[in-house]
Amino acid sequence: VGHTATGTRTRRRRRVLFFSLPYQGHINPMFQLAGLLHARGFAITVFHTHFNAPDASQHPAYDFVPVQDDGMPADSPDTVQVTVEHMFALNRACEAPFRERLAALLEQQQQHAREEDVACLVADAHLLTLMDVARGLGVPTLALRTGSAACFRWFMAFPMLCDKGYLSAQGVQSPVAESQLDMPVMELPPYRVRDLPSAASGATHGLMREVISRAVSAVKTSSGLIINTFDALEADELASLRSDLAVPVFDIGPLHVHSPAASSSLLQQDRGCLDWLDAQGPASVLYVSFGSLASMSASDLAETAWGIANSGRPFLLVLRPGIVRGAPPTQQPPQLPDSFDAETRGRGMVVSWAPQEEVLAHPAVGAFWTHCGWNSTLEGVCAGVPMLCHPCFGDQMGNARYVDHVWRTGLSLDGELERGKVEAAISTMMGSGESETGTELRGRARELSRRAAESVAKAGSSDLNVDKLVNHILSL
Ligand code: UDX
Repeated sequence: VGHTATGTRTRRRRRVLFFSLPYQGHINPMFQLAGLLHARGFAITVFHTHFNAPDASQHPAYDFVPVQDDGMPADSPDTVQVTVEHMFALNRACEAPFRERLAALLEQQQQHAREEDVACLVADAHLLTLMDVARGLGVPTLALRTGSAACFRWFMAFPMLCDKGYLSAQGVQSPVAESQLDMPVMELPPYRVRDLPSAASGATHGLMREVISRAVSAVKTSSGLIINTFDALEADELASLRSDLAVPVFDIGPLHVHSPAASSSLLQQDRGCLDWLDAQGPASVLYVSFGSLASMSASDLAETAWGIANSGRPFLLVLRPGIVRGAPPTQQPPQLPDSFDAETRGRGMVVSWAPQEEVLAHPAVGAFWTHCGWNSTLEGVCAGVPMLCHPCFGDQMGNARYVDHVWRTGLSLDGELERGKVEAAISTMMGSGESETGTELRGRARELSRRAAESVAKAGSSDLNVDKLVNHILSL
């Protein structure tokens, strides 16, 4: 067992600085990690952009330092292309203001050197420029990856996959034949070509290449990689990262289980749905959510709605404002088909944003239809519910591949959304008894959830890795 940050060797308190990407799927694991380190005695400072700034009042024990981000686009990204441009803009816009803010903090610390000092900066791996700034000022850096180990292994293999011709130099701008999409990527099982982000998204190849090589270099030049996964979930992928990287790798997930942090939700969560769930039967409800960034067409929303309605099951559907592409901006949830309410006759509830972790942990929830963002995937794994996967962009396709092909705890909806396919998949996952596939999916999902709980329990793999991480930070 390691030292705490105020441990036996020194009375000085160590401070860990954080800088996250300002998107929900990155902010949540960062606050969970901050909570974990705070509980081990570290003081916490959160640097953040004005764009999607966190609510400091939810975390009274931490210091918050806003960093000027002039030039950041005001809209949240909803495709790989826009996300990548957003990340470049953030690195550029914050470089000088972050240097100024960090230098001021270090100077202030010098005056209190006897009581406290800065141990390191934990930054999202997409913030290479800001990590360089920190190192330039003498602050060691740790890279936080909020996606899976498999996804980062894919990042590291990207140049090789390009050389082998899996990813055309024009990206998707040049059409990839449907038959080629199902080709296995021999060098990187279990992926097929369709599971690789750039084969199915609108990002140009050059941008993709740059963003990936920057993330890999951010990890390689840091003093370690922290990754939100656990050994029993991705043992081979983690072993491969460890053999390919010279820096230590700390798999300490699932972070939301070990460190249920105070809310870092950017949107108001509708807690009324928990009361509604209380009135539903055990494992009877289908929970449907597409995360914080993914969007869909109006016709996909209609197919989703009718697939759910025709399944005949109770449902909790999250429709955040803005989820429908091309609809006029409004704070209201999007319009469902006219007769949807009448058809579902009070069988379901629609909310703009839910307390997802609590919803998934509720005994009334029997299955999760997800876009397979990594946080949602991990939250679904921990809840032990089968997942219906409809990935939209980025790492989501690869995550869905693991759910349906490796862990075999869910089903993928590949290709166009169609109400008949949706209804059939829901019935397989939730049908009582009649479907062997459904029984097996549910059994494996429960088993995986047990292994997740073990990993964060005392002396579990992630618990031990947190000790190692604490010792590593103290040694920096
Ligand atoms: C983005 C990318 O889309 C994803 O591929 C990448 O892995 C992380 O960043 P996002 O769309 O935000 O992900 O999804 P996800 O990673 O699942 O994170 C969403 C978070 O929002 C989860 O922690 C979830 O609990 C939370 N959430 C979601 C809510 O609190 N309420 C909701 O109603 C829906």
